[in-house]
Amino acid sequence: MKNFNIFNPVKIIFGWGVIKESGKEAFYLGKKALIITGKNSAKKTGILEKLIKLLKENMVDSVVFSDITPNPKSDEVDEAAEIGIKEKCDFVIGLGGGSVMDAAKGAAIVLKSGGNLWDYVALPGKKAKQIDEVAPIMLIPTLAATGSEGNPAAVFTNSKTQQKTAIYNPLKLYPKVSIVDPSLTLTVPPKQTAEGIIDIIMHVLEEYLTGDTDCDLQDRISEGIILTCIENAQKVIQNPEDKKARTNISLASTVALHGLPNAGRAGAWVVHPIEHAISGIYDNIAHGSGIAAILPSYLRFLGKVKPEKVKQLSIRVFNADEYSDETELIEVCAKSFEDFIEMIGLKNNLKDSGIEKNFLGKIADKVVEVSGIPSIIKNKENLLKILNNAFESKY
Ligand code: NZQ
Ligand code: ZN
Repeated sequence: MKNFNIFNPVKIIFGWGVIKESGKEAFYLGKKALIITGKNSAKKTGILEKLIKLLKENMVDSVVFSDITPNPKSDEVDEAAEIGIKEKCDFVIGLGGGSVMDAAKGAAIVLKSGGNLWDYVALPGKKAKQIDEVAPIMLIPTLAATGSEGNPAAVFTNSKTQQKTAIYNPLKLYPKVSIVDPSLTLTVPPKQTAEGIIDIIMHVLEEYLTGDTDCDLQDRISEGIILTCIENAQKVIQNPEDKKARTNISLASTVALHGLPNAGRAGAWVVHPIEHAISGIYDNIAHGSGIAAILPSYLRFLGKVKPEKVKQLSIRVFNADEYSDETELIEVCAKSFEDFIEMIGLKNNLKDSGIEKNFLGKIADKVVEVSGIPSIIKNKENLLKILNNAFESKY
């Protein structure tokens, strides 16, 4: 296990109905909020109206920008920030899924540090502009998935170049307060609920699979998060209004990327950069769907180059017989995820997700261009192998 520091300064207010705290908390952040939402859900569910009212009751004025699309584009964030500057907003509230919360982080950067959002994105051969100051941020997730509410990352797409990547800045990008009210997730449709669940699992799986192998506590926490997601996925699919299941999934989402589960591991993130290349090119593919299509193929690849944790997962999470041989244990893990992905209503391969075979090379090129080849994958040939094996489910 590597030495590590954890400094997570986000005040997290968690629980059923805690949205009522948002006005009081906002009072301490500023006088006028730039509220950022997606195009539809926050208005349709009535939560935007409720938030504005809670702010007013606490003498906080607000202006709304509601044009953020899933896989948020950097120019949408620039537009939001421009409105915030014009309206003299002194803090930002993101009310929505990960796309909206990330957009709120981006707008908070541009609001205070100026320029365009893409200036702050680093790429191989492109140095990012330094973030001087960031407006205070409050996040209110309406979908359990990214954990953006408790981490210092935000992911953006440049629609001109089809590059999708993250700004990660633990010194500047943590929200001040996050209001995590699972009741807001009751209206999330089955597909987005499932995409969120596989994303949460992947947030602990990336480093569990590839990082230092002696992280016993982190392993157990990660397995707990995965099992919580699997067990509650079944419940929420049977009954989307299951309050307990929605609450457990929301907590798993916030905790997965909150610090401790991945601390000390120094693992390689692999499925995420591949997925970001996919949804950077295919804007209609949601992050969770892209992950679901790649994960089984990745597990089979990893089973050949670093099998220890794939086997452990097979035994501890999927109850495989510990005396089975290695090939069998790896197959149990990959197949169990394939079945789980199908059970929650997602596609477990690229073809069924709508990806054309002749785009696999372009996806690999984008991974290299934006993130570089993950260390465990070693070379582009292996990357293409994972993509080709993910194209069709052969099992
Ligand atoms: O856009 P609206 O109208 O709000 O509708 C959204 C959107 O269509 C809808 N939705 C959200 N809350 C709802 C709801 N519908 C009904 N009821 C509600 N309560 O769900 C759809 C998807 O929303 P989106 O925000 O795009 O989903 P998600 O939370 O999965 O966020 C995905 C984005 O976050 C990035 C992804 O790459 C992607 O761009 N990520 C951000 C991370 C981070 N900041 O730490 C880490 C992740 O790994 C991820 O990369
Ligand atoms: Zn993710």
